[in-house]
Amino acid sequence: MRVIVLGATSAIAEATTRLYAAEGADLLLVGRQAAKLSSIATDLTIRGAHSAETAIHDLAQTQGIEAAFGDFVRRLGGVDHVLIAYGILGEQADAERDLSIVEEIARVNFNSAAAWSLAAASELERQGRGSLVVIGSVAGDRGRRANFVYGAAKAGLAVLVEGIAHRFADHGPRAVIVKPGPTITPMTEGFDRNGPLWATASQVAAVVRRAADRGGPVVYAPWFWRYIMLTIRAMPARIFNRMNI
Ligand SMILES: NC(=O)c1ccc[n+]([C@@H]2O[C@H](COP(=O)([O-])OP(=O)(O)OC[C@H]3O[C@@H](n4cnc5c(N)ncnc54)[C@H](OP(=O)(O)O)[C@@H]3O)[C@@H](O)[C@H]2O)c1
Repeated sequence: MRVIVLGATSAIAEATTRLYAAEGADLLLVGRQAAKLSSIATDLTIRGAHSAETAIHDLAQTQGIEAAFGDFVRRLGGVDHVLIAYGILGEQADAERDLSIVEEIARVNFNSAAAWSLAAASELERQGRGSLVVIGSVAGDRGRRANFVYGAAKAGLAVLVEGIAHRFADHGPRAVIVKPGPTITPMTEGFDRNGPLWATASQVAAVVRRAADRGGPVVYAPWFWRYIMLTIRAMPARIFNRMNI
C-alpha cells in the first residue's frame, strides 16, 4: 500500500496515517513544516509503516502541481491512495470585510485542492486503479452565517470530487469526498468543544481510511452527519434563517 498524504501535519491526516502505518504502508507525507513532518514520519515508522518519507511543499501554491505530483508518485514507485487533508478555516467576520481573506480561504481550500485533486485523478486514471480521498466539510452543505466563505470553498471542492468520481465511473479508480462534522483538532481550538456532535480526529480518521476502500462518492464523518445535513438542507429558508446554528 503506497499512500501520498497532502497536508500530513493535519490532526485528521496524522490519525489516518497511524491506521496506514499499522498496515505496514509506504507513506509520503507532504506539508510545509519540515520538523513536524519528520517527527510524524519517525513516529509512523515506529508504529509499523514500511517507510515514511517527507516532502516539503506549500500546498496552496498552484504552480507546477502536475510536475510535483509526478515526483511524489515516482518517489513511492506508484501510488494506491491519495489523501488531500490540508485546509484553513479562516475568519468569517474578517473575510466579510476584506476580499483578500476570501481569496486566501478559496486559494487554500478550493483552488489548490482542486488542482491537486485533478493531478491525482490523472495519475490514477493512467494507472487504471487507486483511490483519491479528499476532506471536505459539512459546512459545504448549506451556507451558515458563521462560516459561509469556508463553506463555499468546501462546497466547490465537494462538487469537483463528485465530478471526478463520475468521470472515474466504471474505470477502476475511485474518488471520495469525506465531510466531517465539527472535530477536535487545532483548527477548532478556542471553540466550545463540548457536546455530543463533536468527534475526535481518530473517529474521523477511521471513516477516512474506510472511504479509501469502499463507499462514496460522498461520505460523512461520523456517519450521522448524513442525516443531520439531509434535514438541514431540506429545511425551508424561513425556518433555517431564524435558527442560531
Ligand atoms: N476540525 C474540524 O472541525 C473540521 C471539520 C470539517 C472539515 N475539516 C477539514 O479537515 C481537514 C483537516 O483539518 P484538521 O481538522 O485536521 O485541522 P488542522 O490540524 O489544523 O490541519 C490543517 C492542516 O492544513 C495545513 N495547511 C494549511 N495550509 C497549508 C498550506 N498552504 N500548505 C500545506 N499545508 C497547509 C496545516 O499545516 P501547518 O501545520 O503547516 O499549518 C495543517 O496541518 C481540513 O481540510 C479541514 O478543513 C475539519
